[in-house]
Amino acid sequence: MNVDVLHRGGAVKALSRLYRLKDLLPADALQDGRLRITAAELEDRALRLSLDDGTEVTTALPPAETTTETTTEATAETEATLIVRNAAQVLTMEGDHGVGLVEHGAVVCSGHRVLGVVPEDTAMTAFPLGQQHAVVDAQGGIVTPGLVDPHTHPVFGGERSVEFGMKAEGRSYLEIHKAGGGILSTVRSTREASFTTLAQRCAKNLSHLLSWGVTTCEAKSGYDLTLEGELRMLEVLRTVGDCHPVDVVATLLGAHTLPPEYADRREAYVELVAAEMVPRAAAEGLCAYCDAYCEDGAFTRAEVERIFVAARAAGLGLRLHAEQFTDQRGAELAAAMGAASADHLEAISPEAVAAIAAAGTTAVLLPGAALACRCPWPPARDLLDAGANVALGTDLNPGSSMTSSLPLMMSLACMQMGMSCEESWRAVTRAPAASLGLDGRCGRLAAGAQADLVIFEAPDYRYVPYHYGDNHARVVVKSGHVVVNRWS
Ligand code: NIG
Ligand code: FE
Repeated sequence: MNVDVLHRGGAVKALSRLYRLKDLLPADALQDGRLRITAAELEDRALRLSLDDGTEVTTALPPAETTTETTTEATAETEATLIVRNAAQVLTMEGDHGVGLVEHGAVVCSGHRVLGVVPEDTAMTAFPLGQQHAVVDAQGGIVTPGLVDPHTHPVFGGERSVEFGMKAEGRSYLEIHKAGGGILSTVRSTREASFTTLAQRCAKNLSHLLSWGVTTCEAKSGYDLTLEGELRMLEVLRTVGDCHPVDVVATLLGAHTLPPEYADRREAYVELVAAEMVPRAAAEGLCAYCDAYCEDGAFTRAEVERIFVAARAAGLGLRLHAEQFTDQRGAELAAAMGAASADHLEAISPEAVAAIAAAGTTAVLLPGAALACRCPWPPARDLLDAGANVALGTDLNPGSSMTSSLPLMMSLACMQMGMSCEESWRAVTRAPAASLGLDGRCGRLAAGAQADLVIFEAPDYRYVPYHYGDNHARVVVKSGHVVVNRWS
Protein backbone atom coordinates (compact mmCIF):
# COMPACT_ATOMS: atom_id res chain seq x y z
CA MET A 1 0.00 0.00 0.00
CA ASN A 2 1.17 3.48 -0.84
CA VAL A 3 0.09 5.95 1.82
CA ASP A 4 1.54 9.37 2.34
CA VAL A 5 -0.08 10.83 5.39
CA LEU A 6 0.14 14.57 4.96
CA HIS A 7 -0.75 15.28 8.55
CA ARG A 8 -3.14 14.14 11.21
CA GLY A 9 -6.62 15.57 10.75
CA GLY A 10 -7.29 16.52 14.34
CA ALA A 11 -3.90 18.08 14.71
CA VAL A 12 -4.37 20.26 11.67
CA LYS A 13 -7.86 21.18 12.77
CA ALA A 14 -6.55 22.28 16.13
CA LEU A 15 -3.50 24.05 14.80
CA SER A 16 -5.30 25.87 12.05
CA ARG A 17 -7.73 27.28 14.56
CA LEU A 18 -4.88 27.95 16.97
CA TYR A 19 -7.39 27.35 19.68
CA ARG A 20 -5.82 26.88 23.11
CA LEU A 21 -2.72 25.48 21.48
CA LYS A 22 -0.86 28.67 20.72
CA ASP A 23 1.80 28.00 23.27
CA LEU A 24 2.38 24.53 21.90
CA LEU A 25 3.36 25.83 18.48
CA PRO A 26 7.01 26.30 17.58
CA ALA A 27 7.89 29.99 17.28
CA ASP A 28 8.43 29.83 13.50
CA ALA A 29 5.36 27.74 12.69
CA LEU A 30 3.45 30.58 11.09
CA GLN A 31 5.04 32.17 8.03
CA ASP A 32 3.22 34.33 5.50
CA GLY A 33 -0.03 33.27 7.07
CA ARG A 34 0.77 29.62 6.37
CA LEU A 35 1.39 26.92 8.84
CA ARG A 36 4.75 25.18 8.53
CA ILE A 37 5.36 22.41 10.91
CA THR A 38 7.02 19.04 10.51
CA ALA A 39 5.09 15.85 10.85
CA ALA A 40 7.21 14.89 13.84
CA GLU A 41 6.34 18.17 15.51
CA LEU A 42 2.69 17.52 14.83
CA GLU A 43 2.91 14.11 16.40
CA ASP A 44 4.76 15.60 19.28
CA ARG A 45 2.76 18.67 20.03
CA ALA A 46 -0.63 18.76 18.49
CA LEU A 47 -2.13 15.58 19.82
CA ARG A 48 -1.91 17.00 23.28
CA LEU A 49 -4.67 19.06 24.69
CA SER A 50 -3.83 22.15 26.64
CA LEU A 51 -6.35 22.09 29.41
CA ASP A 52 -7.74 24.70 31.76
CA ASP A 53 -5.87 23.52 34.79
CA GLY A 54 -2.56 23.57 32.97
CA THR A 55 -2.09 19.84 32.62
CA GLU A 56 -1.79 18.06 29.31
CA VAL A 57 -3.23 14.80 28.14
CA THR A 58 -2.61 12.77 25.04
CA THR A 59 -5.60 11.78 22.95
CA ALA A 60 -6.02 8.08 22.37
CA LEU A 61 -5.56 8.19 18.60
CA PRO A 62 -4.34 5.08 16.87
CA PRO A 63 -0.91 5.78 15.36
CA ALA A 64 -0.69 6.59 11.66
CA GLU A 65 1.37 4.05 9.76
CA THR A 66 3.44 6.44 7.68
CA THR A 67 3.95 10.13 8.18
CA THR A 68 6.13 11.68 5.57
CA GLU A 69 4.95 15.12 4.57
CA THR A 70 6.24 18.21 6.26
CA THR A 71 4.28 21.31 5.30
CA THR A 72 0.73 22.36 4.68
CA GLU A 73 1.38 24.21 1.41
CA ALA A 74 -1.79 25.61 -0.10
CA THR A 75 -2.76 23.68 -3.23
CA ALA A 76 -5.03 24.87 -6.00
CA GLU A 77 -8.47 23.56 -5.15
CA THR A 78 -8.72 21.63 -8.38
CA GLU A 79 -5.57 19.62 -7.84
CA ALA A 80 -5.77 16.14 -6.39
CA THR A 81 -4.01 15.76 -3.06
CA LEU A 82 -5.57 12.44 -2.01
CA ILE A 83 -6.74 9.60 -4.24
CA VAL A 84 -8.48 6.57 -2.77
CA ARG A 85 -8.48 3.85 -5.41
CA ASN A 86 -8.92 0.15 -6.01
CA ALA A 87 -12.33 -0.02 -4.31
CA ALA A 88 -14.89 -2.70 -5.14
CA GLN A 89 -17.64 -0.19 -4.39
CA VAL A 90 -17.92 3.48 -3.53
CA LEU A 91 -21.06 4.55 -1.68
CA THR A 92 -21.64 8.17 -2.67
CA MET A 93 -25.06 8.29 -0.94
CA GLU A 94 -26.18 10.62 -3.74
CA GLY A 95 -29.87 10.57 -4.77
CA ASP A 96 -33.00 10.33 -2.66
CA HIS A 97 -32.83 6.57 -2.04
CA GLY A 98 -30.25 3.82 -1.97
CA VAL A 99 -26.53 4.17 -1.51
CA GLY A 100 -25.49 5.93 -4.74
CA LEU A 101 -23.40 2.92 -5.68
CA VAL A 102 -20.38 3.32 -7.96
CA GLU A 103 -18.77 -0.06 -8.72
CA HIS A 104 -14.98 0.12 -9.09
CA GLY A 105 -14.87 3.80 -8.31
CA ALA A 106 -12.14 6.03 -6.93
CA VAL A 107 -12.52 9.08 -4.70
CA VAL A 108 -10.39 12.10 -5.49
CA CYS A 109 -9.94 14.85 -2.91
CA SER A 110 -8.24 18.22 -2.89
CA GLY A 111 -7.24 19.49 0.53
CA HIS A 112 -10.20 18.96 2.80
CA ARG A 113 -12.81 18.66 0.04
CA VAL A 114 -13.94 15.93 -2.32
CA LEU A 115 -13.26 16.73 -5.98
CA GLY A 116 -15.26 13.82 -7.34
CA VAL A 117 -15.95 10.11 -7.53
CA VAL A 118 -14.57 8.74 -10.81
CA PRO A 119 -14.13 5.34 -12.50
CA GLU A 120 -11.09 3.42 -11.27
CA ASP A 121 -9.36 3.57 -14.66
CA THR A 122 -9.37 7.38 -14.56
CA ALA A 123 -8.34 7.66 -10.89
CA MET A 124 -4.96 9.22 -11.67
CA THR A 125 -5.98 11.29 -14.68
CA ALA A 126 -9.45 12.70 -13.98
CA PHE A 127 -8.00 15.74 -12.17
CA PRO A 128 -4.57 17.37 -12.33
CA LEU A 129 -2.31 15.88 -9.68
CA GLY A 130 -1.06 18.17 -6.94
CA GLN A 131 2.70 18.33 -6.60
CA GLN A 132 2.29 16.47 -3.35
CA HIS A 133 -0.43 13.88 -3.36
CA ALA A 134 -1.24 10.73 -1.47
CA VAL A 135 -2.62 7.52 -2.92
CA VAL A 136 -4.49 5.17 -0.62
CA ASP A 137 -5.17 1.63 -1.81
CA ALA A 138 -8.62 0.44 -0.74
CA GLN A 139 -7.49 -3.14 -1.42
CA GLY A 140 -10.80 -4.15 -2.97
CA GLY A 141 -12.84 -2.95 0.01
CA ILE A 142 -15.70 -0.49 0.07
CA VAL A 143 -15.37 3.27 0.44
CA THR A 144 -18.12 5.17 2.22
CA PRO A 145 -18.62 8.66 3.60
CA GLY A 146 -17.39 9.14 7.15
CA LEU A 147 -20.21 8.01 9.42
CA VAL A 148 -22.29 10.56 11.32
CA ASP A 149 -23.55 9.66 14.81
CA PRO A 150 -26.47 11.98 15.71
CA HIS A 151 -26.83 11.06 19.41
CA THR A 152 -24.01 10.55 21.93
CA HIS A 153 -23.25 11.37 25.57
CA PRO A 154 -19.42 11.09 25.56
CA VAL A 155 -18.61 13.33 28.56
CA PHE A 156 -19.14 11.61 31.90
CA GLY A 157 -17.39 10.50 35.05
CA GLY A 158 -17.40 6.93 36.33
CA GLU A 159 -19.21 3.97 34.84
CA ARG A 160 -22.24 1.83 35.73
CA SER A 161 -21.28 -1.81 35.37
CA VAL A 162 -22.82 -2.60 38.78
CA GLU A 163 -26.18 -1.35 37.50
CA PHE A 164 -25.71 -3.43 34.39
CA GLY A 165 -25.43 -6.44 36.69
CA MET A 166 -28.64 -5.38 38.46
CA LYS A 167 -30.45 -5.11 35.12
CA ALA A 168 -29.10 -8.51 34.10
CA GLU A 169 -30.76 -9.85 37.24
CA GLY A 170 -34.11 -8.35 36.34
CA ARG A 171 -34.25 -4.74 37.65
CA SER A 172 -35.52 -2.25 35.07
CA TYR A 173 -33.79 0.92 33.87
CA LEU A 174 -36.65 3.13 35.14
CA GLU A 175 -36.73 1.34 38.50
CA ILE A 176 -33.01 2.02 39.04
CA HIS A 177 -33.43 5.57 37.78
CA LYS A 178 -36.30 6.33 40.17
CA ALA A 179 -34.33 4.88 43.11
CA GLY A 180 -31.64 7.55 42.58
CA GLY A 181 -29.27 5.44 40.47
CA GLY A 182 -29.06 5.66 36.70
CA ILE A 183 -28.45 9.16 35.36
CA LEU A 184 -28.07 10.54 38.92
CA SER A 185 -25.30 8.09 39.67
CA THR A 186 -23.35 9.44 36.68
CA VAL A 187 -24.20 13.00 37.79
CA ARG A 188 -22.44 12.35 41.10
CA SER A 189 -19.32 10.97 39.37
CA THR A 190 -19.27 13.75 36.79
CA ARG A 191 -19.53 16.53 39.37
CA GLU A 192 -16.56 15.00 41.22
CA ALA A 193 -14.40 14.63 38.10
CA SER A 194 -11.84 17.26 37.08
CA PHE A 195 -11.96 18.98 33.70
CA THR A 196 -8.92 16.94 32.69
CA THR A 197 -10.51 13.63 33.62
CA LEU A 198 -13.66 14.49 31.70
CA ALA A 199 -11.68 15.65 28.67
CA GLN A 200 -9.57 12.50 28.68
CA ARG A 201 -12.65 10.34 28.85
CA CYS A 202 -14.39 12.33 26.14
CA ALA A 203 -11.32 12.12 23.84
CA LYS A 204 -11.19 8.38 24.39
CA ASN A 205 -14.88 8.00 23.57
CA LEU A 206 -14.45 10.05 20.39
CA SER A 207 -11.44 7.91 19.43
CA HIS A 208 -13.54 4.79 19.86
CA LEU A 209 -16.27 6.26 17.65
CA LEU A 210 -13.62 7.20 15.09
CA SER A 211 -12.22 3.69 15.08
CA TRP A 212 -15.63 2.44 13.88
CA GLY A 213 -15.68 5.05 11.12
CA VAL A 214 -17.49 7.98 12.75
CA THR A 215 -16.06 11.34 11.63
CA THR A 216 -18.84 13.63 12.92
CA CYS A 217 -20.96 13.23 16.03
CA GLU A 218 -23.56 15.10 17.99
CA ALA A 219 -22.65 15.15 21.70
CA LYS A 220 -24.63 16.19 24.76
CA SER A 221 -24.02 17.62 28.20
CA GLY A 222 -26.52 16.51 30.89
CA TYR A 223 -24.56 14.83 33.66
CA ASP A 224 -23.95 17.80 35.93
CA LEU A 225 -27.28 19.61 36.10
CA THR A 226 -25.93 22.83 37.61
CA LEU A 227 -25.54 26.03 35.62
CA GLU A 228 -21.74 26.16 35.77
CA GLY A 229 -21.40 22.39 35.54
CA GLU A 230 -23.43 22.08 32.35
CA LEU A 231 -21.40 24.90 30.81
CA ARG A 232 -18.25 23.07 31.93
CA MET A 233 -19.41 19.92 30.12
CA LEU A 234 -19.96 21.94 26.96
CA GLU A 235 -16.48 23.47 27.41
CA VAL A 236 -15.06 19.96 27.56
CA LEU A 237 -16.81 19.17 24.28
CA ARG A 238 -15.46 22.33 22.67
CA THR A 239 -11.92 21.74 23.88
CA VAL A 240 -11.78 18.11 22.82
CA GLY A 241 -13.75 18.69 19.62
CA ASP A 242 -11.29 21.37 18.54
CA CYS A 243 -8.35 19.03 18.96
CA HIS A 244 -9.78 15.70 17.85
CA PRO A 245 -10.36 14.46 14.29
CA VAL A 246 -14.05 13.82 15.01
CA ASP A 247 -16.16 16.94 14.46
CA VAL A 248 -18.46 17.55 17.41
CA VAL A 249 -21.86 19.23 17.25
CA ALA A 250 -22.69 20.12 20.85
CA THR A 251 -26.09 19.96 22.54
CA LEU A 252 -27.15 21.31 25.95
CA LEU A 253 -29.08 18.65 27.89
CA GLY A 254 -29.66 20.54 31.13
CA ALA A 255 -33.09 18.90 31.39
CA HIS A 256 -31.79 15.33 31.55
CA THR A 257 -33.29 14.61 34.95
CA LEU A 258 -34.20 16.56 38.07
CA PRO A 259 -31.09 17.05 40.26
CA PRO A 260 -31.54 16.01 43.94
CA GLU A 261 -31.15 19.55 45.29
CA TYR A 262 -34.30 20.52 43.33
CA ALA A 263 -36.31 17.42 44.33
CA ASP A 264 -39.09 19.56 45.84
CA ARG A 265 -38.69 22.48 43.45
CA ARG A 266 -39.28 21.18 39.95
CA GLU A 267 -40.46 24.51 38.57
CA ALA A 268 -37.35 26.25 39.88
CA TYR A 269 -35.10 23.81 38.05
CA VAL A 270 -37.03 24.10 34.80
CA GLU A 271 -36.76 27.86 35.19
CA LEU A 272 -33.00 27.61 35.79
CA VAL A 273 -32.60 25.65 32.57
CA ALA A 274 -34.89 27.89 30.52
CA ALA A 275 -33.92 31.28 31.89
CA GLU A 276 -30.22 30.80 32.65
CA MET A 277 -28.58 27.68 31.20
CA VAL A 278 -30.05 28.00 27.73
CA PRO A 279 -29.28 31.73 27.25
CA ARG A 280 -25.74 31.38 28.69
CA ALA A 281 -24.85 28.32 26.62
CA ALA A 282 -26.22 29.98 23.48
CA ALA A 283 -24.61 33.36 24.14
CA GLU A 284 -21.22 31.74 24.74
CA GLY A 285 -21.55 29.79 21.50
CA LEU A 286 -21.12 26.53 23.37
CA CYS A 287 -23.82 24.53 21.62
CA ALA A 288 -25.97 24.41 18.53
CA TYR A 289 -28.88 22.43 20.01
CA CYS A 290 -30.96 22.05 23.15
CA ASP A 291 -32.25 18.63 24.19
CA ALA A 292 -34.48 17.38 27.04
CA TYR A 293 -35.62 14.02 28.40
CA CYS A 294 -39.40 13.84 28.18
CA GLU A 295 -40.26 10.77 30.25
CA ASP A 296 -41.96 9.47 33.35
CA GLY A 297 -39.43 10.27 36.10
CA ALA A 298 -37.74 13.01 34.05
CA PHE A 299 -39.61 15.99 32.50
CA THR A 300 -43.19 16.50 31.41
CA ARG A 301 -44.23 17.71 28.02
CA ALA A 302 -45.23 21.11 29.47
CA GLU A 303 -41.84 21.49 31.16
CA VAL A 304 -40.04 20.59 27.94
CA GLU A 305 -42.15 23.11 26.07
CA ARG A 306 -41.10 25.89 28.46
CA ILE A 307 -37.43 25.01 27.88
CA PHE A 308 -37.85 24.67 24.12
CA VAL A 309 -39.50 28.10 23.85
CA ALA A 310 -36.43 29.59 25.54
CA ALA A 311 -34.06 27.55 23.36
CA ARG A 312 -35.76 28.67 20.18
CA ALA A 313 -35.63 32.28 21.33
CA ALA A 314 -31.90 31.86 21.96
CA GLY A 315 -31.40 30.58 18.42
CA LEU A 316 -30.74 26.95 19.32
CA GLY A 317 -32.06 24.00 17.35
CA LEU A 318 -34.16 21.42 19.21
CA ARG A 319 -33.70 17.69 19.80
CA LEU A 320 -35.77 15.56 22.18
CA HIS A 321 -35.41 12.27 24.05
CA ALA A 322 -38.99 11.17 23.44
CA GLU A 323 -41.13 8.09 24.03
CA GLN A 324 -38.28 5.89 25.24
CA PHE A 325 -40.38 3.93 27.75
CA THR A 326 -43.78 5.60 27.85
CA ASP A 327 -45.82 7.71 25.48
CA GLN A 328 -45.63 11.30 26.76
CA ARG A 329 -46.57 12.77 23.36
CA GLY A 330 -43.11 14.27 23.22
CA ALA A 331 -42.64 13.45 19.55
CA GLU A 332 -45.78 15.47 18.71
CA LEU A 333 -44.34 18.40 20.66
CA ALA A 334 -41.03 18.03 18.83
CA ALA A 335 -42.85 18.02 15.50
CA ALA A 336 -45.04 20.98 16.42
CA MET A 337 -42.04 23.03 17.51
CA GLY A 338 -40.00 22.21 14.40
CA ALA A 339 -37.40 20.16 16.26
CA ALA A 340 -34.48 18.82 14.26
CA SER A 341 -34.91 15.38 15.81
CA ALA A 342 -37.00 13.20 18.08
CA ASP A 343 -34.88 10.40 19.50
CA HIS A 344 -35.58 6.87 20.88
CA LEU A 345 -39.32 6.53 19.99
CA GLU A 346 -39.75 2.96 21.19
CA ALA A 347 -43.20 3.90 22.57
CA ILE A 348 -44.27 6.30 19.79
CA SER A 349 -47.93 6.29 18.66
CA PRO A 350 -49.00 5.92 15.01
CA GLU A 351 -50.29 9.52 15.07
CA ALA A 352 -46.90 10.78 16.17
CA VAL A 353 -45.18 8.77 13.44
CA ALA A 354 -47.25 10.69 10.91
CA ALA A 355 -46.63 13.99 12.71
CA ILE A 356 -42.85 13.81 12.71
CA ALA A 357 -42.76 12.58 9.11
CA ALA A 358 -44.90 15.53 8.05
CA ALA A 359 -42.85 18.02 10.08
CA GLY A 360 -39.50 16.84 8.69
CA THR A 361 -38.29 16.07 12.20
CA THR A 362 -35.66 13.35 11.95
CA ALA A 363 -36.41 10.13 13.85
CA VAL A 364 -33.13 9.22 15.55
CA LEU A 365 -33.40 5.56 16.52
CA LEU A 366 -31.09 4.07 19.14
CA PRO A 367 -31.13 0.28 18.92
CA GLY A 368 -28.35 -0.05 21.52
CA ALA A 369 -30.55 1.56 24.18
CA ALA A 370 -33.59 -0.51 23.16
CA LEU A 371 -31.47 -3.67 23.41
CA ALA A 372 -29.89 -2.82 26.77
CA CYS A 373 -33.14 -1.59 28.35
CA ARG A 374 -35.19 -4.46 26.90
CA CYS A 375 -37.58 -2.09 25.14
CA PRO A 376 -39.58 -3.01 22.06
CA TRP A 377 -37.69 -2.05 18.91
CA PRO A 378 -38.63 1.41 17.62
CA PRO A 379 -40.97 1.23 14.62
CA ALA A 380 -38.37 1.99 11.95
CA ARG A 381 -40.47 0.48 9.16
CA ASP A 382 -43.53 2.58 9.98
CA LEU A 383 -41.41 5.71 10.16
CA LEU A 384 -39.72 5.01 6.82
CA ASP A 385 -43.01 4.10 5.16
CA ALA A 386 -44.51 7.36 6.46
CA GLY A 387 -41.66 9.20 4.71
CA ALA A 388 -39.70 10.20 7.83
CA ASN A 389 -35.97 10.88 7.72
CA VAL A 390 -34.66 8.00 9.84
CA ALA A 391 -31.19 8.07 11.40
CA LEU A 392 -29.37 5.66 13.71
CA GLY A 393 -27.21 6.62 16.68
CA THR A 394 -25.12 4.75 19.22
CA ASP A 395 -26.53 6.76 22.18
CA LEU A 396 -23.03 6.19 23.61
CA ASN A 397 -23.54 6.71 27.37
CA PRO A 398 -22.60 4.92 30.60
CA GLY A 399 -26.12 3.70 31.38
CA SER A 400 -28.49 2.73 28.63
CA SER A 401 -26.07 2.11 25.75
CA MET A 402 -22.39 1.61 26.53
CA THR A 403 -21.17 1.17 22.98
CA SER A 404 -19.40 3.21 20.32
CA SER A 405 -20.16 0.87 17.42
CA LEU A 406 -22.40 2.62 14.92
CA PRO A 407 -22.07 -0.34 12.48
CA LEU A 408 -23.55 -2.57 15.20
CA MET A 409 -26.58 -0.26 15.21
CA MET A 410 -26.89 -0.85 11.46
CA SER A 411 -26.85 -4.61 12.07
CA LEU A 412 -29.57 -4.38 14.73
CA ALA A 413 -31.64 -2.15 12.46
CA CYS A 414 -31.40 -4.66 9.62
CA MET A 415 -31.87 -7.77 11.75
CA GLN A 416 -34.54 -6.56 14.17
CA MET A 417 -36.14 -3.34 12.97
CA GLY A 418 -37.12 -4.10 9.40
CA MET A 419 -34.64 -1.74 7.79
CA SER A 420 -32.93 -2.65 4.51
CA CYS A 421 -29.14 -2.55 4.21
CA GLU A 422 -29.47 0.53 2.01
CA GLU A 423 -31.69 2.25 4.58
CA SER A 424 -29.22 1.42 7.32
CA TRP A 425 -26.39 3.08 5.37
CA ARG A 426 -28.47 6.19 4.76
CA ALA A 427 -29.33 6.22 8.48
CA VAL A 428 -25.65 6.63 9.44
CA THR A 429 -24.70 9.10 6.67
CA ARG A 430 -27.19 11.34 4.86
CA ALA A 431 -30.02 11.17 7.39
CA PRO A 432 -28.01 12.17 10.49
CA ALA A 433 -26.08 14.79 8.51
CA ALA A 434 -29.40 16.37 7.54
CA SER A 435 -30.65 16.27 11.12
CA LEU A 436 -27.54 18.20 12.20
CA GLY A 437 -27.89 20.77 9.41
CA LEU A 438 -24.80 19.36 7.68
CA ASP A 439 -26.29 17.87 4.51
CA GLY A 440 -23.93 18.65 1.66
CA ARG A 441 -20.98 18.99 4.00
CA CYS A 442 -20.79 15.42 5.31
CA GLY A 443 -22.63 12.12 4.97
CA ARG A 444 -22.02 11.89 1.22
CA LEU A 445 -19.17 11.65 -1.24
CA ALA A 446 -19.68 14.29 -3.90
CA ALA A 447 -17.83 17.29 -5.27
CA GLY A 448 -17.55 19.95 -2.58
CA ALA A 449 -18.30 17.69 0.38
CA GLN A 450 -15.82 17.46 3.22
CA ALA A 451 -13.23 14.75 2.49
CA ASP A 452 -14.39 12.43 5.29
CA LEU A 453 -14.39 8.79 4.25
CA VAL A 454 -13.92 5.25 5.46
CA ILE A 455 -12.43 2.17 3.81
CA PHE A 456 -14.08 -0.98 5.10
CA GLU A 457 -12.50 -4.35 4.46
CA ALA A 458 -15.66 -5.76 2.88
CA PRO A 459 -16.49 -6.99 -0.63
CA ASP A 460 -19.96 -5.46 -0.63
CA TYR A 461 -21.75 -2.75 1.36
CA ARG A 462 -24.19 -5.34 2.77
CA TYR A 463 -21.23 -7.12 4.36
CA VAL A 464 -20.82 -4.48 7.08
CA PRO A 465 -24.25 -4.94 8.76
CA TYR A 466 -24.19 -8.67 7.88
CA HIS A 467 -20.87 -9.47 9.62
CA TYR A 468 -21.96 -7.88 12.88
CA GLY A 469 -19.94 -7.10 15.98
CA ASP A 470 -16.59 -7.02 14.17
CA ASN A 471 -14.88 -3.79 13.18
CA HIS A 472 -14.27 -3.77 9.42
CA ALA A 473 -13.10 -0.12 9.24
CA ARG A 474 -9.47 -0.14 8.13
CA VAL A 475 -8.75 3.44 7.09
CA VAL A 476 -10.52 6.61 8.17
CA VAL A 477 -9.87 9.87 6.35
CA LYS A 478 -10.94 13.11 8.02
CA SER A 479 -10.85 16.39 6.12
CA GLY A 480 -8.50 14.85 3.57
CA HIS A 481 -6.08 13.36 6.10
CA VAL A 482 -5.62 9.74 7.05
CA VAL A 483 -6.36 9.60 10.78
CA VAL A 484 -6.82 5.85 11.25
CA ASN A 485 -4.81 3.27 9.35
CA ARG A 486 -4.89 -0.31 10.48
CA TRP A 487 -4.71 -2.75 7.65
CA SER A 488 -3.65 -6.09 9.05
O1 NIG B 1 -30.44 8.40 25.78
N1 NIG B 1 -32.67 8.30 28.35
C1 NIG B 1 -32.05 9.25 28.72
N2 NIG B 1 -30.77 9.50 28.47
C2 NIG B 1 -29.85 8.52 28.00
C3 NIG B 1 -29.41 7.61 29.08
C4 NIG B 1 -28.59 8.28 30.04
C5 NIG B 1 -28.09 7.39 31.14
O2 NIG B 1 -28.69 6.35 31.44
O3 NIG B 1 -27.06 7.80 31.69
C6 NIG B 1 -30.37 7.78 26.81
O4 NIG B 1 -30.71 6.59 26.86
FE1 FE C 1 -29.51 9.73 24.93
